[in-house]
Amino acid sequence: MASEQFEKNILCIGAGYVGGPTMAVIAAKCPQYKVTIVDINSERIKAWQTDELPIYEPGLLDIVKQARNRNLFFSTEITENIKQADIIFVSVNTPTKTFGEGAGKSADLQYWEKTARDILAAAEEDKIIVEKSTLPVRTAAALERILHSNDKGIHFDIISNPEFLAEGTAINDLLDPDRVLIGSRENESGRRARQEIVDIYANWVPRDRIITSNIWSSELSKLVANAFLAQRISSINSISALCEMTEANISEVAYAIGRDSRIGPKFLNASVGFGGSCFKKDILNLVYIAESYGLTEVAAYWEQVVKMNEYQEHRFVSTMIKALFNTVSTKRIALFGFAFKADTGDTRESPAIYVTRQLVEERAHVVITDPKALDNARIDLQDILDKVEFEPDPYKAAEEAHAAAILTEWQAYKSLDYERIYNSMQKPAFIFDGRNILDHQKLFDIGFHVYSIGKSPLTHFEEQ
Ligand code: NAD
Ligand code: UGA
Repeated sequence: MASEQFEKNILCIGAGYVGGPTMAVIAAKCPQYKVTIVDINSERIKAWQTDELPIYEPGLLDIVKQARNRNLFFSTEITENIKQADIIFVSVNTPTKTFGEGAGKSADLQYWEKTARDILAAAEEDKIIVEKSTLPVRTAAALERILHSNDKGIHFDIISNPEFLAEGTAINDLLDPDRVLIGSRENESGRRARQEIVDIYANWVPRDRIITSNIWSSELSKLVANAFLAQRISSINSISALCEMTEANISEVAYAIGRDSRIGPKFLNASVGFGGSCFKKDILNLVYIAESYGLTEVAAYWEQVVKMNEYQEHRFVSTMIKALFNTVSTKRIALFGFAFKADTGDTRESPAIYVTRQLVEERAHVVITDPKALDNARIDLQDILDKVEFEPDPYKAAEEAHAAAILTEWQAYKSLDYERIYNSMQKPAFIFDGRNILDHQKLFDIGFHVYSIGKSPLTHFEEQ
């Protein structure tokens, strides 16, 4: 079906944080394929066609520019592009359901099912459909039922190819992945389709990093990978609370345990809590799936990872309030960072949202600064815009503040002039490092009262 100029027509439905970067990399690495990305959001599609991309991701613009209008195209024309595609990646959002059965836990598959029905309605020939979105295990069975309900005699092969990129490092994760996972039905047609997807990645990913499996293992592995990653953060965060009680230092503990090669050093940074669009939703989805199979203990085990994260966010705000003499009412508090992690403008499930709302609830005057996330912060806080201030310049945000709190580990915050910040703040001046990125002794020497995660506070007050 591909035009003479190209070997294959690849379509991606969903031009978001995953669809955009993933397809841009495929297009950049495989000029022999035509790659088209469609979305119902015309603003997003328009932005992908400019140099003001709809998402901030280091290195993304360069990759997009390599391929855009050569073999990478963005469009809102869904039906026609489905017709022309040989392979369709579906990368639409799969948020937590907010209504009806499973509300608050299970995945809301309405966007997913809508694309399945669009494909069914438009397709005129056999196609390979690739699950790129993160989905509950056994979604492919439902998808097969929908797609094979056609009376046009069209055959669809369903492939699971979950995405493991992390925001902020997406381009490197895509160019040099630890692994690519491709699952299929274990019959002849399924294996043939799987090989077609393997062949795409083999254009730049070493073959031994391309893992193939049965389709259910692939679907489930995505949820499990996120659950394990988040579990490490909740584990270290739980120990940070114990460190604060015992004068143990969480950085020293993390280093000591991480030197055990069985544990390893990564993902052991204690923090104000994990955010991001996926960890919470994917664990809750896993919990829901376990519950629905009657595996109550399994569900409770994983749910605790999310509860520990909520506890950590809550603990951070409590520490602030306690340190600020049990009241933040009318106090100006500067929050450094609103994105859920550095190097992204994404604020979905960012701990900063919870911290801001709790402080506002306590009637603090909150000033938010962030190099990339202020637009999203305004949307997240639209119901309390009269109670918060947005200030791109961290120095201005801190002026006359009683306290500053680091909520995102932006590199730039490590090298600010904290002497200048201290001089412009109200005294006593407090700093709360929710990411443990600053030099706490230096801040203490400047005059700050310093609170961090999992370490004894450094204060100038006499013990009572
Ligand atoms: P996103 O919200 O940024 O993008 C999804 C896009 O799909 C949106 O632009 C939306 O308009 C579009 N869409 C929804 N319904 C559509 C339809 N019927 N037709 C056409 N377009 C439609 O979401 P995302 O962060 O890219 O995540 C997509 C999936 O990938 C989710 O399942 C997520 O769990 C998974 N995932 C995300 C990440 C990440 O870092 N964000 C990483 C790995 C996996
Ligand atoms: C995560 C996974 O790392 C990806 O592999 C996965 O593809 C993706 O979810 C997804 O499915 O959406 P992402 O959420 O983009 O990626 O970012 P992470 O680097 O995992 O960080 C998540 C959160 O955990 C951030 O708030 C981060 O600050 C926090 N974190 C991370 C810690 O608090 N401590 C750490 O040691 C590591």
